[in-house]
Formats: sequence, structure tokens, C-alpha cells
Amino acid sequence: MTDIFEVMKSRRSVRIFRGDDVPDGDIRKIIEYAVTAPSGSNQQPWKFMVIKDRALKNSMAERVNRKLSAVRDNIKSAKAGEHFRSYLQYLTFFKDAPVVICVLTQPYRSVFENILQKYMPEAEKEEQALVDASIQSVSAAVQNLILAAQAMGYGTCWMTAPIIAQKDIEELLGVDEPWHLTSVVPLGRPGAPQKNFSSRKPLDEVLVFKK
Ligand SMILES: Cc1cc2nc3c(=O)[nH]c(=O)nc-3n(C[C@H](O)[C@H](O)[C@H](O)COP(=O)(O)O)c2cc1C
Repeated sequence: MTDIFEVMKSRRSVRIFRGDDVPDGDIRKIIEYAVTAPSGSNQQPWKFMVIKDRALKNSMAERVNRKLSAVRDNIKSAKAGEHFRSYLQYLTFFKDAPVVICVLTQPYRSVFENILQKYMPEAEKEEQALVDASIQSVSAAVQNLILAAQAMGYGTCWMTAPIIAQKDIEELLGVDEPWHLTSVVPLGRPGAPQKNFSSRKPLDEVLVFKK
């Protein structure tokens, strides 16, 4: 499947995977496309750590579960407990995928942002708060990654929930400053038929022309 519109439309998050190994050559190709993404000042603030080792994947999930039990212990109301339990299925399924890609970023400010920070009047600085070039750039790469995988017949799920155990997973994987784990992407052949198009807001709700 190579038509870009078809790839975009057919991609759905996959949470159940077949066990077949993903050849390293395919992983290299997917990352080759991921890094064609644009990035602020072309800083390319990304790294991709590929994990196939079952014990390591399980240790990552254990660290997420440890954080979750601390949250669970603090929940007092039945309703919040019910909500909490309904989300658990979205947190650690990555461990059952043949490959887990840990996406790292390196926070940075572009040269221009540094100039703005230095010379912009204090009162106006707040408006700059939403510009996080490293997160925006690495997100563009993750989107490319999941589309490239889809084009090659693989399923993925962009996951940030495991970041609840960010520090613990970074320690486990030997991620050193200035790098940080931003998302986790399980990758493999889909183990269940991909669901139909998940609902999207109507176009007229999200598209505004100011002509
Ligand atoms: C930034 C981001 C974080 C996400 N984190 C998770 C996650 O931790 N667990 C999960 O199961 N899905 C996660 N998703 C997937 C979304 O739930 C999914 O994209 C959304 O429901 C739309 O469904 P679709 O991807 O099948 O179109 C995440 C998606 C994005 C973009």
C-alpha cells in the first residue's frame, strides 16, 4: 500500500499483535521514513530505541504497574476506581508486541527562540509557552513512523501512558541526560482485524476558514 491518502485513512491503533518477529531491515526502513520529518531549526531531536527482548519489555511493564499501584492506593471513590480500572487495558499491552520502539527526545531551543527569550519583554513571554520545538518535532517523526509502518503492513499504537514511569524506564534502558522518553510505540503484524475508522469530529467543527 503506497498511496499516502489510503495509508492515512486506513491506519488505526493496533493493541493486539501477532508474535512474528519484525526483521531489523524493516525496522530500519520504518525509522528511515520517521526521520524524514521536519524539525525546528532542523535539530532532529530524536532517537529510537528498539526493544525485542521479552524480559526487558516485561520489566518496562512492571515499572508502569508499580506506578499504577501507587495511584490505585490513593483512589478513594468507587467511581474514580471504576474509571481507573477501565483505562488499565491501555497501559501495558505494548509488552506483548514483538517490537517496542521507545522514542526519545532531547529538549532544545532554536537559536531564534533563544533570542526571543533573551530580548522579549517579560509580559509577552507567556505567549511563547506553547512552542515546545522538541516535542513538536519528535511528534512529527512518530507520525511518520506509524504511517510508514502502516504502509508496510505493520500495526502500531502511539502510546504516552507508559510515561507515567518515565524515570524508571529511562533508568532501565540506560537513557542518559539530555535524552528523555516521550512515547512508546509497539510494532508488529496486527493480531486482530483493525477496527473501522474511529470516530472523528465533523470537519466543520475543526476547520475554520478566515477569508
Ligand atoms: C499522543 C498520543 C498518546 C496516546 N497514548 C495512548 C496510550 O497510552 N495507550 C493507548 O492505548 N492509546 C494511546 N493513543 C492512541 C489513541 O487512543 C488513538 O489514536 C485514538 O483513540 C484514535 O484512534 P485511532 O488511532 O485508531 O484512529 C495515543 C495517541 C496519541 C496521539
